[in-house]
Amino acid sequence: MKKFSANVIENQKVNFLFDDSKNLSGLSDIEFKKFKKIFIIFDQALKNSWVKEISEIIKKSKSELHFIPLKGIENIKSLREVEKLLYFLEGSNCSKNDLIVSIGGGTILDLSAFVSSIYMRGVKLVMIPTTLMGQADASSAGKTCINGRQTKNLVGTLFMPLYVYNNIHILKTADRYSHRQGLSEIFKYGLLGSKKLIRYLEQYARDSLENDPLLLKILIETIKVRIKLRKIDPLVSNLGHTFGHAFESESKNLVAHGDAISVGIICSLKLSLKKRYISKKLYSQLMKIMRDLNLNINIDKSSNVERVVNLMKKDKKSDGDQIGFVLLTDIGKIAKTKNKKFLFLDAKYVSSFLTELYKDKDFLVTNHWKQLTKNV
Ligand SMILES: NC(=O)c1ccc[n+]([C@@H]2O[C@H](COP(=O)([O-])OP(=O)(O)OC[C@H]3O[C@@H](n4cnc5c(N)ncnc54)[C@H](O)[C@@H]3O)[C@@H](O)[C@H]2O)c1
Repeated sequence: MKKFSANVIENQKVNFLFDDSKNLSGLSDIEFKKFKKIFIIFDQALKNSWVKEISEIIKKSKSELHFIPLKGIENIKSLREVEKLLYFLEGSNCSKNDLIVSIGGGTILDLSAFVSSIYMRGVKLVMIPTTLMGQADASSAGKTCINGRQTKNLVGTLFMPLYVYNNIHILKTADRYSHRQGLSEIFKYGLLGSKKLIRYLEQYARDSLENDPLLLKILIETIKVRIKLRKIDPLVSNLGHTFGHAFESESKNLVAHGDAISVGIICSLKLSLKKRYISKKLYSQLMKIMRDLNLNINIDKSSNVERVVNLMKKDKKSDGDQIGFVLLTDIGKIAKTKNKKFLFLDAKYVSSFLTELYKDKDFLVTNHWKQLTKNV
């Protein structure tokens, strides 16, 4: 098993465990027995598989276990679910010395980490991500979040788990659709901070996305890049997200996060190309890797420029009509407006850029969001 600890936020150490054992033996590195009560918030779809196996190991602690099943869907990232969980913890006399264990993909992790961070101003948390998105991204930088009525990840806190337990075997039961979502974020981290990671991904695509030892290396490198970026600014990792979140919201979450982000990355690369920040050669090279990794490179024909731009104005990086972007000038290099951490562009400019882009018939595909969900 590989492991490392990192101060993701100052003085808040997170222990990252990377276990390649099939029987999850690395979990015994976590001292569950130190906790009187353990609250296991989990994806109910995994009840008879991973949750069962993990619980068998946690049970050895002799702690009092409480199980909280939830649906692993975007809608649970809501205030209503937060309220239910908080009252459940209160009703079960959860104290500050107890532990929350979160088992599931990004949706379960985001919600349970948010609840852990606000219940009694913070209860200790162990995250056990079960999707590639969860392992590579949602568990690695302490960003907890729930959605607003219209805006993705509107409400959140920064909160570090005690442990993140990653086991690549757990990913085996997740489908290709879910794997693609995670790969999309990993590719983004490669673009933002690691030529080595981009090389790994090129190799992973050549191996038809089936090379576990390489996937483990990819995960570790991704998390290292993510922590490095996190220290600069939590929003620096938002490459492709200004467009991507708008597509997600516009589709009413029909398009999955990773699929929305990968086509958001395409828009950002095209914008970088238009502004001559990157060369055509680099653009084509990156497009090829995205295609080889089977990432989503299109949007739905129903998408509307005005709606998308309005949603982009609500992005956390935006300021009124000035829309904030993380755009590349090269792999690992970000364009900035003077005295700012990001690049700001006027909404009118963005609108005319998108209008031009939407004329490209190959880019807009009829019923694309629906088709993507079937493409598992
Ligand atoms: N906080 C962050 O920094 C951060 C970063 C990236 C993404 N996210 C969030 O993550 C969410 C997306 O997460 P996700 O892609 O993991 O999706 P998800 O949690 O919705 O899970 C996707 C599907 O996979 C199933 N599943 C999960 N693990 C499985 C397994 N091992 N085997 C079989 N099925 C399994 C779930 O039941 C669900 O149907 C979004 O809400 C996004 O905003 C957060």
